[in-house]
Amino acid sequence: MVIKCFVVDEFTVMQIAMISFMKWISRLVFGCYIWSKLEFSITDALRYIMGIAGPNGFGSKSTAEQVTEGISPSHLTAIITGATSGIGAETARVLAKRGVRLVMPARDLKKAGEVKKRIKRESPGAEIIVMEMDLSSFASIQNFCSNFLSLGLPLNILINNAGKLCRSFQLTEEKFEMTFATNYLGHYLLTKLLLGKLVETATKTSVPGRIINVTSVIHRWVAKEGFKFDDMLLPKSYNGTRAYALSKLANIMHAKEMARQLKERNANVTINSVHPGIVKTGIIRDHRGLITDLVFFLASKLLKSTAQGASTTCYIAINPQVNGVSGKYFADCNESSCSPLADDDYAAFDLWMKTNILVHKSVALN
Ligand SMILES: NC(=O)c1ccc[n+]([C@@H]2O[C@H](COP(=O)([O-])OP(=O)(O)OC[C@H]3O[C@@H](n4cnc5c(N)ncnc54)[C@H](OP(=O)(O)O)[C@@H]3O)[C@@H](O)[C@H]2O)c1
Repeated sequence: MVIKCFVVDEFTVMQIAMISFMKWISRLVFGCYIWSKLEFSITDALRYIMGIAGPNGFGSKSTAEQVTEGISPSHLTAIITGATSGIGAETARVLAKRGVRLVMPARDLKKAGEVKKRIKRESPGAEIIVMEMDLSSFASIQNFCSNFLSLGLPLNILINNAGKLCRSFQLTEEKFEMTFATNYLGHYLLTKLLLGKLVETATKTSVPGRIINVTSVIHRWVAKEGFKFDDMLLPKSYNGTRAYALSKLANIMHAKEMARQLKERNANVTINSVHPGIVKTGIIRDHRGLITDLVFFLASKLLKSTAQGASTTCYIAINPQVNGVSGKYFADCNESSCSPLADDDYAAFDLWMKTNILVHKSVALN
């Protein structure tokens, strides 16, 4: 055995201490910068970093398993988009563990099959149906919905989780910008086509239906003057982060307006938006590079694990504490405040109207 001896002189110890100190300071400064950009208070920052529980007993460090502990809803069926990786895969795993029947629409059936196998290994009794759907194609969404509806299954929970951030400008089949179309337009159409089934199931079973739009805190970066429908469909100049932030703002507005309409219809279905937290998943790994890696190194103290990232969605999906709550924005498993623009009822109604006209123009709906 060879034992290597390192002679550590005082100078080296000083250097190591200095580097550690600089790392710590740069992370602190960077964390404060990010926090100020997101317009959070110091109390919010402390609560997040320390994982202090909110009024319902859960906080940023709660995991999806913890927030659903002891809850085993029987006979619930949930559709989860984007369950092939990251937060969606963990949401699917935990809901299946709690006895929820899962329908996983995916564009990559092989990947979805592998997730299904993994979940079944842990929960052998889990009922999981994998079906094909590409959210960037209206035709594919329509096809999925008619296939799902032909199964004659009930539908209690719809989780609009899938998300994409395209680095470069791309167009969908319908000639809309890809990031906005996948994250917002696709989920808008999916919700529209499944709403009848959600309302019908809730009426027949008296179990409230729940819709969850997975959004992001990044919606706060959008200014009112930058929120123009035509420009979101076909931007004059493309910026991936901007397109992503716009789509996430639209997800919240969609939930707000839908909540108003569902209440007006007296439907036993709620809809809420969720910011999962920052988790190093596929959506971030797709954008690896020196700057992204540096940002994530500096912000590492603000990151959540996937289990923590899936907690707010799972909480809203099946925890009875949220019965009857609709049109709200949640982060760290607690109700939180979104940006003033995301809270603007008129802007939400306007967006819903414009999207509805667009969707009706683009696809033949009954
Ligand atoms: N990670 C974070 O820090 C963070 C922060 C805030 C909000 N979010 C939101 O959390 C949600 C989940 O993201 P994630 O972090 O778990 O990312 P992820 O690991 O990249 O998962 C994204 C999922 O969306 C699916 N998807 C993408 N484009 C699709 C399409 N055209 N049709 C169908 N499915 C499609 C992906 O399927 P494939 O496997 O086929 O690619 C994948 O299953 C997203 O809405 C994201 O915006 C994430």
